[in-house]
Amino acid sequence: MKAIQFSGPGGPETIAEVDIAAPIPAAGQLAIAVRFAGLNFVDVLARRGAPGYASSWPFVPGMEVGGEVVALGEGVSGFAVGDTVVAFTVDGGGLAETVVAEAGLAARVPDGLALDAATTVPLTWATAVGLTRAAHVAAGDRILVTGAGGGVGDALAAVLALRQPKVLVGGTSTRSAASLAAAYRPAIRDAEFAANAREAADDAAFDVVLESIGGDVSAAMPALLAPGGRLVSYGAAAGQPDPAAPTLAELRRNNWTTAGFSIINRARGDAGAIGDLIAGVFALTAEGLALPAPRVIGWGEAVEAHIAQAENRSPGKTVVAVQD
Ligand SMILES: NC(=O)c1ccc[n+]([C@@H]2O[C@H](COP(=O)([O-])OP(=O)(O)OC[C@H]3O[C@@H](n4cnc5c(N)ncnc54)[C@H](OP(=O)(O)O)[C@@H]3O)[C@@H](O)[C@H]2O)c1
Repeated sequence: MKAIQFSGPGGPETIAEVDIAAPIPAAGQLAIAVRFAGLNFVDVLARRGAPGYASSWPFVPGMEVGGEVVALGEGVSGFAVGDTVVAFTVDGGGLAETVVAEAGLAARVPDGLALDAATTVPLTWATAVGLTRAAHVAAGDRILVTGAGGGVGDALAAVLALRQPKVLVGGTSTRSAASLAAAYRPAIRDAEFAANAREAADDAAFDVVLESIGGDVSAAMPALLAPGGRLVSYGAAAGQPDPAAPTLAELRRNNWTTAGFSIINRARGDAGAIGDLIAGVFALTAEGLALPAPRVIGWGEAVEAHIAQAENRSPGKTVVAVQD
């Protein structure tokens, strides 16, 4: 079968289109004929060799897929050959004609939901719901999303807006500001980011900060968190070293809570928790949340789109039509 593969950790020179054997589902797994594979920043982190992303080398990227079940591993129940499903393929493999997924990380697609949009549920939208839960978001919160552009940022805009925040501010580069989801008040992520974000929130600090940039942006947290504020760190896209965390004395004095969120590590440790997040997204769609259609590209455009995402010039959530 055709697949896109990273030969080892490194730059774009490690990417190749290859012809490899289709995987066979082990006990507890499904084999899925992939129709759509989502592109995610976590594929970029895998290629760069960031710890915890690529599970082995060579590595086939693609951690969220939609398609049809073509085979069941031993002991799988609740699915049948021919089912249309989406899955969080936590060990990659999605940018290929066939992928295997843990049954606990897969879900049948509800009637009426387009498969290209549903493909963005098991990782992108599940992360948005997971972050909202991890931060204990409540109505009336002032909320800052430091990396508000891109796939997860767009999904967060929609999920957080349902929680009726008092203020929702989105950190953005100048390049992405024009395409930021309308629910965000933009705050440019330059050297004055903390001041820009507070100004966008009518000169107030934040009850909730969802932080995915790292480095200098993480270092600005003490200036951004209100007393009683909750910070959830879920990425470090800028590639800068993490700053020193607030001390226990600072946490006590300010009644701050800090937390981390990694859907990948959660999936590896507790598949049921991911099933709950996927079900949580589908429940929101049943209540009226409209999943936007992602940008759909052909197989021949996938490598360039992955490189564009790595270079922060991606136009938004993208899925690859694998059977083109
Ligand atoms: N912890 C988890 O469970 C989890 C799960 C999924 C994703 N994530 C993280 O969430 C973030 C968004 O992921 P995504 O798949 O939605 O990616 P995406 O669509 O490519 O969006 C990338 C986001 O990262 C920002 N960014 C800042 N500096 C960047 C740089 N040097 N290179 C690339 N992007 C940069 C972009 O901001 P501008 O557009 O404003 O420049 C944009 O908000 C990533 O950091 C990813 O690792 C975490």
